[in-house]
Amino acid sequence: MKMAEGHIGEELISEGQIAQRVRELGQRITSDYAGADLVLVCILKGATIFWSDLSRRIDLPLTTEFVALSSYGDRTASSGVVRLDLDVSGSIEGKDILIIEDIIDSGHTMRYLRDKLLTRNPTSLRICVLLDKPSRREVEIPLDYVGFTVPDVFVVGYGLDFAQKYRNLPYVARLTSG
Ligand code: IMP
Ligand code: MG
Repeated sequence: MKMAEGHIGEELISEGQIAQRVRELGQRITSDYAGADLVLVCILKGATIFWSDLSRRIDLPLTTEFVALSSYGDRTASSGVVRLDLDVSGSIEGKDILIIEDIIDSGHTMRYLRDKLLTRNPTSLRICVLLDKPSRREVEIPLDYVGFTVPDVFVVGYGLDFAQKYRNLPYVARLTSG
């Protein structure tokens, strides 16, 4: 299904709500990872704004790796076929990996990345997502940190795009067609 045009619909999560939740997640991660060798693995491009805000709320020494995965194109439903376009730059063996993602929908993207990184023997691997859309899950993925649960609607803003647009919206909105 290809949507020719999308429009910004109703605001679902405000800037203030996001900021508050990011602070809470940062505090939890800070206490959970005290003494760990923490590596944030930020998934391009959608998670960059979340990572940027969240990482500044984690009061620990840490490093960041960026990875890029594709499965979507300009469509609003997952193909289930995932490809790694950019890999982490260094070894993750013995490190505590925290994957940072914008949204989990079918779960295919996250399962692919998680399984790939687990073969490289990190000490631990957990997942932190801004948004969870559980109604559309096709594969089971345990999520360790979740910002918000969203209904089965296509959302944009705060890093999330439709056809590469709307990532710069400071809040999360519903996308409407037509
Ligand atoms: P999954 O593999 O179906 O879980 O899809 C995850 C990826 O699809 C995310 O990283 C997003 O890039 C994209 N995605 C899923 N749902 C939405 C949405 O509602 N808005 C924007 N992107 C989405
Ligand atoms: Mg994404």
